[in-house]
Amino acid sequence: MSVLDIVDVSHAYGPKKVLNQVNLRVGAGQIMALIGPSGCGKSTLLRAVLGTHPPTFGQILVGDCQVTAPNRDVGIVYQHYSLYDFLTARENVAFGLKLDQTSTPFRVFNYFGWRKLRKQHLEQADDFLQKVGLGAARDMYPNQMSGGMRQRVAIAQALIMQPKILLLDEPFGALDEAMREELQLMLLQLYAENVQAREENRTPPHTIVMVTHELNEALFVSDRVVGLSQYHADGANGATIVYDRPAPVFKPDEPKDISRFVEQKEELIRCIFSAQFQHDHLKFVTFWDELEKQHEEAAGSP
Ligand SMILES: Nc1ncnc2c1ncn2[C@@H]1O[C@H](COP(=O)(O)OP(=O)(O)O)[C@@H](O)[C@H]1O
Ligand SMILES: [Mg+2]
Repeated sequence: MSVLDIVDVSHAYGPKKVLNQVNLRVGAGQIMALIGPSGCGKSTLLRAVLGTHPPTFGQILVGDCQVTAPNRDVGIVYQHYSLYDFLTARENVAFGLKLDQTSTPFRVFNYFGWRKLRKQHLEQADDFLQKVGLGAARDMYPNQMSGGMRQRVAIAQALIMQPKILLLDEPFGALDEAMREELQLMLLQLYAENVQAREENRTPPHTIVMVTHELNEALFVSDRVVGLSQYHADGANGATIVYDRPAPVFKPDEPKDISRFVEQKEELIRCIFSAQFQHDHLKFVTFWDELEKQHEEAAGSP
């Protein structure tokens, strides 16, 4: 089932051509890393999916609806967290539900109704804080938390709205290595929830597209790595997808041993950063074919 369809998307800022015929389909439950040279148009692509900056050409569909403006099907978390300093972690996480489900007159004139709903919102917020490993920090204020904790609260804040797809634009970029690791483990936990949902024949709940500039991180946290780059035959007209392959899947308790995947990492570096390999980039855009092959093999084996 596809959650996001990017169809023939090109984008220019005035005369400056940034994106060139980008095509990308993301399935439910995929955690996809998007990487590429700085300035190649990754954020531009995310803003198009978010709906704040529709592309010059092409279409973007989220769950079969064309995106023309921001809407609650798409959530986003940026590098710099967006929490309210005067609200606790759980109040911050519950805040979106309050805006979405109530109005000021409702809260004033239906005080008891609001109190009851408020309690539900806060309980839901606690569940989502639990998911990001912050159950114990629910009453802390942002200035009492580390950068990594704040960023996880921001992610819980986005997840509670249950968007069809969550976009993360270098969400860990400003953090030190230890905090990045905490967040990476959190993503593996979300991925494990997806795996469990599939086993129980439910739709996996978390579909995530994450921009990162760290190749190890891309291979570690995602099940699919997509490279956007201007290094291809028609690069003068902007960046396109030059790499799209499955990534190794780690379990949350598995050691982060990326050395097993050096070959894939080198392949990725060549495709994305090297003009030399620009003529045969479609050789590396094979995610869906490889996925099909994996399914066939799984079905064929006893
Ligand atoms: N609002 C804008 N107006 C003009 N040029 C822009 C604007 N936003 C981004 N750009 C340019 O478009 C290119 C792609 O930017 P961006 O999507 O932010 O890249 P990335 O996220 O991959 O680093 C860059 O060269 C940037 O300078
Ligand atoms: Mg960017």
